Amino acid sequence: MENQNFCLKRTHYCGQVLEDCVGNEVVVCGWVQRQRDLGQLIFIDLRDRSGIVQLAFDEGSDREIFNKAYSLRSEFVIAAKGVVRERSSKNPQIPTGNIEIFVNTLHIFSKSDITPFEILDEAKVKEELRLKYRYLDLRRKSVQEKIVARSQIIKMAREYLDKHGFIEIETPLLIKSTPEGARDYLVPSRIFPGKFFALPQSPQIYKQLIMMAGFDRYMQIAKCFRDEDLRADRQPEFTQIDFEMSFVDSEDIMKMVEGLIYKIYKNLLNFEVPLPLPRITYEESMRRFGSDKPDMRFQLELIDLTDLLKNTNFRVFADAVNSGGSVGAINVPRGASKISRKEIDKLGDWIKDYGASGLAWTKLNEDGNASSSYEKSLSEETVLSIREKTNLKNGDLLFLIANVSRETVLQSLGALRLEIAKKLSLIDDSKPNLLWVYDFPLFEFSKEEGRYVAQHHPFTMPKECDIQYLESHPEKVCAMAYDLVLNGNEVGGGSIRIHDPALQQQIFKALEISQECARESFGFLIEALKYGAPPHGGFAFGLDRLVMLLTKSGSIRDTIAFPKVSSTAELMSGAPADKVL
Ligand code: AMO
Repeated sequence: MENQNFCLKRTHYCGQVLEDCVGNEVVVCGWVQRQRDLGQLIFIDLRDRSGIVQLAFDEGSDREIFNKAYSLRSEFVIAAKGVVRERSSKNPQIPTGNIEIFVNTLHIFSKSDITPFEILDEAKVKEELRLKYRYLDLRRKSVQEKIVARSQIIKMAREYLDKHGFIEIETPLLIKSTPEGARDYLVPSRIFPGKFFALPQSPQIYKQLIMMAGFDRYMQIAKCFRDEDLRADRQPEFTQIDFEMSFVDSEDIMKMVEGLIYKIYKNLLNFEVPLPLPRITYEESMRRFGSDKPDMRFQLELIDLTDLLKNTNFRVFADAVNSGGSVGAINVPRGASKISRKEIDKLGDWIKDYGASGLAWTKLNEDGNASSSYEKSLSEETVLSIREKTNLKNGDLLFLIANVSRETVLQSLGALRLEIAKKLSLIDDSKPNLLWVYDFPLFEFSKEEGRYVAQHHPFTMPKECDIQYLESHPEKVCAMAYDLVLNGNEVGGGSIRIHDPALQQQIFKALEISQECARESFGFLIEALKYGAPPHGGFAFGLDRLVMLLTKSGSIRDTIAFPKVSSTAELMSGAPADKVL
């Protein structure tokens, strides 16, 4: 290698060398994108995080430098000094396409082996290989842009919350378990053999304690860890833009969130989000869209046929209705010719993953003739009533799902709704669809545990008018909780918290958490509630999900510098490892 003391100090990033630099001497540093050898002329595309600039070398001018340029290969790291000149053949594709740097000094910092894939945006590379060599993948412009957008969003959040009086406080990472519904990652203690720290699923309890400590407004860009099954929008370690406020109600918190989301869209995408955001209750969202994170960028709303089919003799529907279940439908306008019989059969199998036992359907063709999986089993009157209630017109396709569980009908129709929208490209992606879902049930029944569990977390305040049902009808109790939904994704959630120790005990009781167990797990929080707790509430954005949607990424992994794959492994370093050094 060359003299290590040799040092060319960078004067410009590659992407900054524009026409106004013509005639000036500049120094640029970066990675060789490619070399073009034209015999007596060599051109190098030099890349850094700002873009690409062309370096020019002339055999007639300096043979030593020319030979050095000849030796350059892709991904060598170099510094080049030279005079900027106008190009004879311009490249309108890149901002620096009108100029080039005629190099008079060249330094090679390091060489590169042939990379496992080309560092090009358009290179089609399997994700596994990309993640194994993530530091190379991250050299690609399109990948870098997402990480930069992430950094900008964090900065905007800090600025916004700082302007509104929030204090940034770091909460600990080695803690006692926080109940957010997933499993904890555990860290063994060396000093206390057999004992473990848990990594936080969120800073929930600590931020509440920060309110009790009197800080009034807290924020943190918080790392969270959850040991749960991964999906395209989940990571075992992820980041929240987390905040908490004292002496507020839900409206104050929602307003604060809306202000931040407005700022992010305006600054990042120059889009003005119309405020206030629309709101929908959990109940309405489930009934109309079969989801608590409805994607309202397209129609295909669910239609309830339970009442209409109350007296049918057709077993499939009758069994569901008579056992307290329901029958629901989706009308796909103009769907008859767009979805084939074969595809319907496939959807019928696919829907079983959502608990439905099958899919009933009617294709009403353009000429008014119908083919159907169930109409022949119903009276003509009922068939006509269904068609009327679902507004079925010639050319439309109707799907029906019946089940003994209303929840299964709603959830499976909700999944079908999304699938059809994707299949038929019904989703208008030009504008973001943001909304609030509120009035969540405080509890949900866990069949696994045979008891009610908290839908959000056990510190969420019930609606005052529902407190009377805590013991008699826990399923009726609504929470003072709200989720922010963006394009059918839950990008954040929060709630007003309980600040009354007696009510907190009542909730533990409803959750069948014994006093002893509550004391053991969150005794410090219950105790803190006794020493003067302000009314408080807060919210946490899922930062990774937010960046994923704002940058139109296909996966949450694209928004994290070193993400994990669905098995929770990190392919580059090989973590988790079975040995500790
Ligand atoms: P919650 O559990 O709803 O609330 O989490 C808040 C937001 O965090 C994101 N999120 C995730 N992102 C990536 N991978 C995951 N595994 C993952 N899990 C959750 C979601 C979600 O909306 N302490 C409360 C907040 C509060 O009440 O203030 C909490 O953590 O976008």
